[in-house]
Amino acid sequence: MRKMMIAGNWKMNKSPVEAAGLAEKIAGKVGDIRHVDIVICPSFPALTAVYEKIEKSYVRLGAQNLFWEREGAYTGEVSTLMLRESGCRYVIIGHSERRSHFGETDETVSRKAAAALEWNLIPIICVGEKLEERERGEVESVITKQIKGSLAHLNDENIAKIVLAYEPVWAIGTGKTATPAQANEVHGLIRALVGDIFSKEAASELRILYGGSVKPDNIRALIAEEHLDGALVGGASLDEHSFVEIVTGCLPDTSGAEAETGDSQ
Ligand code: 13P
Repeated sequence: MRKMMIAGNWKMNKSPVEAAGLAEKIAGKVGDIRHVDIVICPSFPALTAVYEKIEKSYVRLGAQNLFWEREGAYTGEVSTLMLRESGCRYVIIGHSERRSHFGETDETVSRKAAAALEWNLIPIICVGEKLEERERGEVESVITKQIKGSLAHLNDENIAKIVLAYEPVWAIGTGKTATPAQANEVHGLIRALVGDIFSKEAASELRILYGGSVKPDNIRALIAEEHLDGALVGGASLDEHSFVEIVTGCLPDTSGAEAETGDSQ
């Protein structure tokens, strides 16, 4: 049984002071929820201030990027060890904005994911096709290439620990969500690919998030699909009310809050 996850990607928004304020409100409202893994990913300078606000809750901290070397002459880069010490448990890798604006490739994504796992950070690895690729009927080939390349440095042992995110580029920040059926089709493809490359067991445990204009009013329909295990949320994660509604939208209808055990900090 895969546990739902809602991760907020704050992108380059919220100063450290603003981020700490938002984190405090989120932790105050959903910080005791254990049915859903909740992760918030502020910018690097805000990590420590956010961590201080959430460390006593079940809300977890994530970063938005890393570099695979442990330390050294890499001006402007941040290592896994630095992220761990700042309180991170997760790190988003290979977001389409990094792929398109900052030259991220499947190879660099894969190296970063392997480095994250080595230091016990859970990578949330993003893939997704562009609009023109979808229109040309290339979704399957694009996703297959991205998955194979982005997971190339991972192995049978660590594959089950990762989280994948399918974010069709045309749905990011546009208000156009993939239909639940469209998303499920690609999630099913991703799960099958991971099953072929690694093992069926790992594939069945793997969590695959959907990202792209997720809002309180579409989360339930999305997660009702077989292969959708939660969401990576951009714009709607910057507002306490909409983020909290998305999280609570993943709770069982009965809200029978008999607890699943949350992981420990
Ligand atoms: P939006 O939710 O703003 O479409 O962004 C999605 C995203 O890029 C999450 O990583």
